[in-house]
Amino acid sequence: MLCRYKKAFEKIAMGLLSFMPDQKDLKLLQETIRQYETDPNWQLFLWKQEDDFIGLVGVEIADDEWIVRHISVDPSHRGEGLGKEMVKQLSKMDMDCVIAACDQTAPFIQKCKAMLEEADKEI
Ligand SMILES: CC(C)(COP(=O)(O)OP(=O)(O)OC[C@H]1O[C@@H](n2cnc3c(N)ncnc32)[C@H](O)[C@@H]1OP(=O)(O)O)[C@@H](O)C(=O)NCCC(=O)NCCS
Repeated sequence: MLCRYKKAFEKIAMGLLSFMPDQKDLKLLQETIRQYETDPNWQLFLWKQEDDFIGLVGVEIADDEWIVRHISVDPSHRGEGLGKEMVKQLSKMDMDCVIAACDQTAPFIQKCKAMLEEADKEI
C-alpha cells in the first residue's frame, strides 16, 4: 500500500532514498527530503507491507506529468515486483496524469511503462 510521506517517516524515507545512485551524501539527502516536505509539486510516497516500509517513490508534478524523481526498494525485497507495483499504483492515483521519468529513473520507468501498456492490451 502506498502511503503519503509525513515527518514521522523521515528517517526511514532517508534510508530508502539513500539507495538512489545520486543520494549517497547526507547533506543532499536532507535537501531532497526538505524539497518533498516544502514544495507542493513534489510528492513522496512510501510502500508499507505489514508493519514495514520497504519502498519509496517520489514524483514531481508538472502539469499533466508525474515525473518520477526517485524510486527505490529495500534490497531484501527486490525482484518481487514491488517497484513495478508502486509505479502501477501511482498511475492509478490520477488517471489524467502521464507517468514520466527523469534521466536517473528512466531505465526502470521505461520498463514499467512497457509492462503497463502490455497489461492494458490484454484487458
Ligand atoms: C530499481 C528498483 C526500484 C526496482 O525495484 P524492484 O522491486 O526490484 O523491481 P521489480 O521487481 O518490480 O522489477 C524487476 C525488474 O526490473 C529490472 N530492473 C531492476 N533495476 C533496474 C534498473 N535500474 N533499470 C532497469 N531495469 C531494472 C529487473 O531486471 C527486473 O526485470 P525483469 O522483470 O525483466 O526480470 C530497485 O532495484 C532499486 O531500489 N534500485 C536502487 C535504486 C535505483 O537505482 N533507482 C533508480 C532505478 S532506474
